[in-house]
Amino acid sequence: MRKKVTKAIFPVAGMGTRFLPATKSVPKEIMTLVDRPLVQYAIDEARAAGIKEFIFVTSRGKGALEDYFDHAPQLENELKKKGKDKLLEILKSTNMDSGEIAYIRQHRALGLGHAVWCARRLVHNEPFAVILPDDVIAAEKPCLQQMVEAYEETGGNMVAAMEVPKESASAYGVLDIKEDMGSMVSVKGMVEKPSADEAPSNLAVIGRYILSPNIFRNLNKLKSGAGGEIQLTDAIAKEIDNPDRGGGVYGYRFRGQRFDCGSKAGFLQATVAFGLARDELRDDLEGYLQELMAARAAAE
Ligand code: G1P
Repeated sequence: MRKKVTKAIFPVAGMGTRFLPATKSVPKEIMTLVDRPLVQYAIDEARAAGIKEFIFVTSRGKGALEDYFDHAPQLENELKKKGKDKLLEILKSTNMDSGEIAYIRQHRALGLGHAVWCARRLVHNEPFAVILPDDVIAAEKPCLQQMVEAYEETGGNMVAAMEVPKESASAYGVLDIKEDMGSMVSVKGMVEKPSADEAPSNLAVIGRYILSPNIFRNLNKLKSGAGGEIQLTDAIAKEIDNPDRGGGVYGYRFRGQRFDCGSKAGFLQATVAFGLARDELRDDLEGYLQELMAARAAAE
């Protein structure tokens, strides 16, 4: 029997400079899509996939993120007194049990690989997931759950994958495909942030991973890679030729729509999409968008 994946690492140490000045005092990860912070979407997705331990790799200035996960008994009492049951239920659904969530500091911004490595002592010797909360994925079956189901067949290491235009390859880790099996590909190489010319395919890594603990060993020895940072992609690539020791690397083409909430345009698109997906907002928002588009068309 394959060991179940019950731990997930959430790297949230980034400074969020693309969202300055907001991120002067608000961690990017608690900026809201409609009414839920980005990180809540990541937690919900992890829970749906069977994750029981949530490990956050944080940095200076992320206090508000830690506070977000505290229980709010005063607020709960208020809502109860006022009979606001629906809100109370929503609030309670975000509660984390004591001991379920842990925070580790990344003391220096040395890259995604280094951030994951910081959590090594909390994961020990078992497979684990990594979720990058910037990548928000709207899907009928949550993306990580799709991956866990696929991973139960393959083992090894699995990354979420999506086709992107070659010109955008330099924003991603890109897969060199060995065999294409449809929803899954086996991988013979991985390049972090290649130029369009160097990209081995247009299949990009998206921020969901299921990884073997060998990755920590690889990270131990890793020198800095693309952009002078210690890259998770490079540590995963070392497992390609290691199928006997629990290695092998697969890309998983998830079903769903990914929003790059690390960029302003992506965040705005996600806001509109998640707004339109809510029954109580749909009509108003749709009406507004239609009016706006009509007014723009008339002005042209
Ligand atoms: C990270 C990873 C990259 C991956 C991307 C997905 O890059 O290093 O391999 O394709 O996330 O969002 P970042 O966006 O942190 O630069």
